[in-house]
Amino acid sequence: MSEASFYEQVGGAPVFAKLVREFYRGVADDPPLRDLYPEEDLGPAEDRLRMFLEQYWGGPKTYQEQRGHPRLRMRHVHYAVTPTQRDRWLHHMLAAVDTLDLEAEHDATMREYLVRAADFMVNADEPLI
Ligand code: HEM
Repeated sequence: MSEASFYEQVGGAPVFAKLVREFYRGVADDPPLRDLYPEEDLGPAEDRLRMFLEQYWGGPKTYQEQRGHPRLRMRHVHYAVTPTQRDRWLHHMLAAVDTLDLEAEHDATMREYLVRAADFMVNADEPLI
């Protein structure tokens, strides 16, 4: 029998729904970061991030079915992800992880991934002036 996925081990759909809900609550209250998001309604962006993270951690493959291969760095080239914006993104995401109260090992695994993924998405320098 195969071992339960990380997705299942941490509690499945409700846990990922809470993670992205808390994250986008933070984004909505952070104007410089919020300005990067093109849509007035953050709901669809929240769904895309949730589906991606569920898939990444071994849950349903709905992201792939609806959006195709993630190619996330490519999908972010339209948005200037500077180190400062990365820090804002991570701040809200790690605060959202705080609300999940995960077991220590899962918590550490999730945070390490998010820090690495956020670094990987940086695609612009800070403006010089
Ligand atoms: C580092 C700072 C980051 C910033 C400022 C940022 C910003 C954005 C913006 C503005 C969008 C477009 C909103 C939309 O979906 O319509 C987006 C999309 C998305 N981002 Fe990020 N992002 C960051 C990092 C990440 C990371 C680390 C991940 C994954 C772990 C991620 C996953 C996604 C996904 C899955 C989408 C939707 C892609 C699609 O299917 O179109 N982002 N992001």
